[in-house]
Amino acid sequence: MSTVAARPQLAHLTAVLDELKQRGTFFRLRELEDIQGPVCTYDGKKVINLASNNYLGLCNHPRLEEAAIRAIRDHGVGSGAVRTIAGTMRIHMELEEKIARFKNVEACVVFQSGFTANAGTVSSILGKEDFILSDELNHASIIDGARLSKAKIKVFRHKDVAHCEELLKEVENEPGKKLIITDGVFSMDGDIGPVGELAALAEKYGAIMMVDDAHASGVLGRNGRGSVDHFNAHGKVDVQVGTLSKAIGALGGYVCGSRDLIDFLYHRARPFLFSTSHPPSVAATCIAAFDILEDEPERIERLWTNTRYFKQQLESAGFDIGGRSTPASETPIIPVILGDGRKTMEFSRELFAQGLMATGIAFPTVPEGKARIRTIMTSEHTREQLNQALEILTTTAKRMAIL
Ligand SMILES: Cc1ncc(COP(=O)(O)O)c(C=O)c1O
Repeated sequence: MSTVAARPQLAHLTAVLDELKQRGTFFRLRELEDIQGPVCTYDGKKVINLASNNYLGLCNHPRLEEAAIRAIRDHGVGSGAVRTIAGTMRIHMELEEKIARFKNVEACVVFQSGFTANAGTVSSILGKEDFILSDELNHASIIDGARLSKAKIKVFRHKDVAHCEELLKEVENEPGKKLIITDGVFSMDGDIGPVGELAALAEKYGAIMMVDDAHASGVLGRNGRGSVDHFNAHGKVDVQVGTLSKAIGALGGYVCGSRDLIDFLYHRARPFLFSTSHPPSVAATCIAAFDILEDEPERIERLWTNTRYFKQQLESAGFDIGGRSTPASETPIIPVILGDGRKTMEFSRELFAQGLMATGIAFPTVPEGKARIRTIMTSEHTREQLNQALEILTTTAKRMAIL
């Protein structure tokens, strides 16, 4: 039987795709054929991989693999229900208790992803009479959650605490609750959110403080405890979101906070109420990952050593790695800013052809005119691999008149 082609009813989608093709920003998905690692095979080509969020190399850590396999043998492959019906397994609770202890908070709840953790939380803890003060570069899942909450959204300039205060003052005497929300680490520029200062502002105005630590979990703070630990803002952030999909190496998102916050989310967060819980193997994998954060801190040290080296080398080669027209990277996410979307995508394709996987990111993921190659360090890249990557980047950039 032949496959069904797009019918005229979907012609508007084809029109959008045609436009992307014209702009040179249409992409196809690359297929990973082996294991997420510093060198791996995409689309049949072995490449140095600077595109993953596998910060600590945990995607194939033997202890995580063993834990997953054991959990499958002991508990099967699926949970069979949403958490509130019949899908809460002992291992889900064990993971949440472990994360809560790690983050030094009363309680934790795990969602299916970081995206649903953010969207499900923001949308449920506020209503239409409330206000959200959100950094202009916050992640899409925060933006979607804010829209779903129907609260009034006030966007402050990136990391501009004074602007946030200005906006807070405007609504200070309004009856609704106020929520200040920032990413701990911004995913496109790799800069760190002013969590400590915003938390102080929240305290001053009696606002709720929330942080999305998707890229800070496992990266910032003692043993990767995140941005709240990095800024020593313990007890000042009401809602801490993290992800299990990046440094932790598996899948999922979590929310940490007071017992009441977590009990409330059990009752009101829609992704928690209406979507099936993780397979037990994922929960077991994540439990093992938190043990690794405690047992193998040298992974985080290697991650930061690689970050410092690569950043310094890119800079001295003459690349714009942020800090000119875009925020300066402060973490293992290191953008190489080109500006033009088409050129960026061409550069990314050419790098791939030369043996380097570095994703091109253009509008609408980043603002128009701020297209970039995003490179991400991991603890597992060797100095030799990084030098090879630098060689590919510089020779390709010179050939394409980027440098
Ligand atoms: C800042 C930020 N928040 C949340 C998420 C979503 O996390 P997850 O991939 O676990 O859904 C991401 C990942 O893309 C992110 O970059």
